[in-house]
Amino acid sequence: MLKNDAFLKACRREPTDFTPVWIMRQAGRYMKEYQAIRKRVDFLTMCKTPELAAQATLLPIDILGVDAAILFSDILIPVEAMGMEVRFTEKRGPVFSTPIRSEAQVQGLSIPGPAESEERMPFIADAIRLILQGLDHRVPLIGFSGAPFTLATYMIEGETSKNFTWIKRMMYTDPPLLHKLLDKITGAVIHYLNMQIRAGVHAVQLFDTWAGSLSPDDYQEFALPYVERVIKGIDKKNCPVILFANGVSSILEYMGNSGADVNGLDWRIDIGVARRRVGSQVALQGNLDPCVLYAGPDEIRGHVQAILHKYGTGPGHIFNLGHGILPDTPVEHAKALVDIVHEESSSKRS
Ligand code: CP3
Repeated sequence: MLKNDAFLKACRREPTDFTPVWIMRQAGRYMKEYQAIRKRVDFLTMCKTPELAAQATLLPIDILGVDAAILFSDILIPVEAMGMEVRFTEKRGPVFSTPIRSEAQVQGLSIPGPAESEERMPFIADAIRLILQGLDHRVPLIGFSGAPFTLATYMIEGETSKNFTWIKRMMYTDPPLLHKLLDKITGAVIHYLNMQIRAGVHAVQLFDTWAGSLSPDDYQEFALPYVERVIKGIDKKNCPVILFANGVSSILEYMGNSGADVNGLDWRIDIGVARRRVGSQVALQGNLDPCVLYAGPDEIRGHVQAILHKYGTGPGHIFNLGHGILPDTPVEHAKALVDIVHEESSSKRS
C-alpha cells in the first residue's frame, strides 16, 4: 500500500485531496546533489549503475516533496540495446556514431525480446528494485520509454534536430522503410516497458517529444499507430499510461483516443481548452512553461492559480511542467512550485 497515491488516483480520474505534482527531468543538473554525482561519473555510467540511478531518482522525493518518482535513465538506453552506439556530449547532447539511413541498417537492428532485454539492460530492473526499497511506499514510481516516432527521430537524425530533415526525407521518399524501422522499434519498446512493469513500476510515460512536428495526417500514419500498438502490447492492468508530446495542440484528439490514460501537455495550449477537447476520455498532465521557474514564488503562485483555475473542478489533473526543467533553474523555485501546487489545490477543494 502506498502512503501517497494521489498521482495514481489522478491518472485514473479518481478524486484526490490535492492536485499531485511531479516535474519532468526532476533529477537533473539544477540540483547540486546531482552535479556532485556527475562530477565523478559520466551520464551513461550513471544510468547504468543501479545505486547511482536510484540515488538520483530519490533526490527530488527528499528535496522537493513531489508526489511521484521517475526512474533515472534516458530514452536512448533501449536504442543502444538494439545495437546502436550512442555518446552523450556536453555541447550537442546525445550523438549516434552511425545514424540509420539505409535498408541494410534497419535490417541489422535487433529487437531484444523479454530475456534479451533483461540480459542487455540488467541495470534497469536492478535500479527499479533499489528505488522501490528507497521509496519505502512513500510515492509511486513512474517508468518510461521514448515512443517509436521520437526514438526513430534520434536514430535517423543521429542527434537532436531542429527541422528533422533526415527522418522526413525518409518519410516522403521511402515510407515503407520508415514503417519497417518503426515496427522494429515498437517491438523493442513493448518488451522494454514490460520489463519495467515486471520489476514494479506503478505507471509508465511514453515520451513522444517530437510527434508535434508532424502534420495531423503524418501523425496518424507514422506516430499514432505505433503508440497504440505499444499501449495494447504492454501489461497495463494496474499500470496507467501517460502519453506526452511537445506541441500537442494539433494532435490532441488523436492522443485522447490512443488508449493512454493520461495526456501530457506542453505549455502552448490552454489546459481548460484541452480538457474540453479530450478531458472526458483521459486525465491531463501539465502544463507550466518551465521558464516560469526563473521567477520567484509570487510569480509562480499566480501561474499555478491560473492553471488550476483553467483546469477547473473535478478530478484528473496531474500538475507538471510543459517540458523538462531547465538546468539553470533555482532549486528553491522548484521546491516552491511543489508547495504552491499543494497549497492552492487543497484550498480550492476545501
Ligand atoms: O524525467 C526524469 O527526471 C527522468 C530521467 C530522464 C532523462 N531524460 C534524464 C536526462 C528522462 C525521462 C529523459 C527523457 C529524454 N531523454 C527525452 C524525452 C523527454 C524530453 O525531454 O523531451 C529525450 C528527448 C532525451 C534525450 C536526451 N537526453 C537529450 C536530448 C539530452 C541532452 C539535453 C540535455 O538536457 O542535456 C539528454 C541528457 C539527459 N537526460 C540528462 C538528464 C538528467 C542530462 C545529462 C547530464 O547530466 O549531462
